[in-house]
Amino acid sequence: MRFLRQLLRRTPFYPIYKRLGHYPDYLYWRLRGRPPRPPHLAKQRLVKHYARQRGLRVLVETGTYYGEMIAATRSTFAEIFSIEFDPKLAAAARRKFAALPHVHVLEGSSESLIPEVLAGISQPALFWLDAGYCAWNGNFADSTRLLRELDAILSHPVAGHVVLIDDVVPFSGVDGTPDVKELQRYIVQRFPGRSVQVDTGILVIRYG
Ligand SMILES: C[S@@+](CC[C@H](N)C(=O)[O-])C[C@H]1O[C@@H](n2cnc3c(N)ncnc32)[C@H](O)[C@@H]1O
Repeated sequence: MRFLRQLLRRTPFYPIYKRLGHYPDYLYWRLRGRPPRPPHLAKQRLVKHYARQRGLRVLVETGTYYGEMIAATRSTFAEIFSIEFDPKLAAAARRKFAALPHVHVLEGSSESLIPEVLAGISQPALFWLDAGYCAWNGNFADSTRLLRELDAILSHPVAGHVVLIDDVVPFSGVDGTPDVKELQRYIVQRFPGRSVQVDTGILVIRYG
């Protein structure tokens, strides 16, 4: 099964397969009592929920991958910036969203591109941090990148940004990944006025 999935990943049918797979995955996850590591549909709903709740019209995503979050939220946001390290994935996403002028796929590392995106932002935005901070392709990552990106976002002069961090909770404290409790303490102490909570297995940082 894993082999077949990897094979499928290299074909143009993979995005369609992924989209169709959302609903059974979502139902199965709900039947299991909503454990950590929610399916993509639950993540899409969470992103839209916080955008609506806080009236956010700008999305900044780290880790474009196959552009599923862009596709799911393209009519929720007036401007979408998505950062992808892998040149092939970035090029494919650019082609895929070429007809949508409000979607900007930026190629490079999220750590260097987040400050560039922030420099051009003058209204509160939703940040979907999903660039393999804890583990990617089976390798555990250096989580200090996440802390540096968080510092840049949370010190930005525009108030009201909401930050959602994917995949932090299930890897909490494993193989050098950030411990969620420590991360919560760090953010609240360093950036007063923010609240940090876990929602549907995802870390949510907000004002108030
Ligand atoms: C889990 S996928 C992202 C899924 C996507 N956000 C979504 O919701 O559909 C992780 C992506 O992060 C990318 N990535 C890994 N390290 C990165 C970095 N330093 N900067 C930007 N993207 C990175 C990987 O190439 C991969 O495409």
